[in-house]
Amino acid sequence: MEQVKMLLVCDNKQLKSQLHEELLPVYGQVETITSSEVRKEIDRISPQIIIMTDGEKDESSIELIEYIQDEIGDAELPVFIYLSHKANFQLLRDLIRIGVNDFFVLPEELANFLERLERIILTVKERQHSELQPLPSSQAMKKGKGEIISFYSGKGGVGRTLLSTLFAQTIKLESTASVLFIDLNLQYGGAEKYLGVESARSIADLLPVIDELNENHVHNVVMKETYSKMDLLLSPRDAEIAETITEEHIVRLLRTCRRAYDMVVIDLPINMDPITFSALEESEVIHYVLSLDTPAISNYKQVTNLLKRLQMDTEGRMKVIVNRMDRSSELTTADVKEFIVDPIVAKFKEDRKGVQPLINKGEPLRKETKEKKIPTLSKQVRKYVLTQLK
Ligand SMILES: Nc1ncnc2c1ncn2[C@@H]1O[C@H](COP(=O)(O)OP(=O)(O)OP(=O)(O)O)[C@@H](O)[C@H]1O
Ligand SMILES: [Mg+2]
Repeated sequence: MEQVKMLLVCDNKQLKSQLHEELLPVYGQVETITSSEVRKEIDRISPQIIIMTDGEKDESSIELIEYIQDEIGDAELPVFIYLSHKANFQLLRDLIRIGVNDFFVLPEELANFLERLERIILTVKERQHSELQPLPSSQAMKKGKGEIISFYSGKGGVGRTLLSTLFAQTIKLESTASVLFIDLNLQYGGAEKYLGVESARSIADLLPVIDELNENHVHNVVMKETYSKMDLLLSPRDAEIAETITEEHIVRLLRTCRRAYDMVVIDLPINMDPITFSALEESEVIHYVLSLDTPAISNYKQVTNLLKRLQMDTEGRMKVIVNRMDRSSELTTADVKEFIVDPIVAKFKEDRKGVQPLINKGEPLRKETKEKKIPTLSKQVRKYVLTQLK
């Protein structure tokens, strides 16, 4: 039977030799690298079991684990064991959320760790032997590793807010995913209009705790959308407060939200400031909303050039959604295709009849999972969302 590939990630020399003393006599060679070597080596080693130890900061360990998970992909996710010198409940919770299988505090739990490792190795070997596929996840969404999907455009009024809110509601209604919608139009807001809520609480309420932000803080500040019950982090709608929010705040916020939800949907303003930029940087998918007219195309070009100059890599992440399509549109999608480099993933028609009355009443475009009559736009978005949920 093949050896189980085990990797030890350890920056502390003393701990490393201590662990080697325990592991080598039993398992022979144990591949050991430092945390800074992980990014370079993980592909080559492709371990089945990874033993992580405390990094310099808790955050850096979490980032590293998330990186490894991304790199290795779903098919053969390794078993993660985390060894820490401190009984840190918050860190433990964060680690469990991102999918770490076991957590031991050294030196007290060394014996438990070794015992558990032995059993894990047996299980991995068994799985290898019977060529069992890894267990499929029971839910449509992978827990604890939320995806960030943002809606952006370089031109206003194209439907970012309408589509991002509707997209988030639809995911919440059509899947088991936990969904958070964030309005990052910090000065003016806007999403509350389409969600039928008053923004009593907002992102600004997280500022006092932003340096130690955790999932509980987020859960305490979010509001609920009445119908779909998705969570909302609304805009403070205040220019002065908006000014105090920095890109570091936003990065911290988004990473925390990513751990707390399966899906985080963001509505972005058109101005490319550090906040918009960092939100785009954090996004797995950027939906660029495009209307069919010359100004929209020229803004799209400006945006893509700017992102290139800022060295942001959007390849494979940027997806174009054509919106407000109708017979009187200045351009056709065929015209547009000549000018854009990113794929068009959806085309939504102008649906004034379906959309406007609901907006006027302050009601969302989706309310229940099984609705008989929904606006044409809601149907089109539903169709697109279902392709995304697979
Ligand atoms: N497919 C559509 N069918 C009908 N109306 C639409 C459609 N898409 C957007 N609209 C309308 O266009 C207007 C602007 O939409 P929205 O506020 O979502 O745009 P935005 O890109 O967020 O604009 P802003 O730059 O102001 O943030 C709204 O009144 C909305 O009802
Ligand atoms: Mg908007």
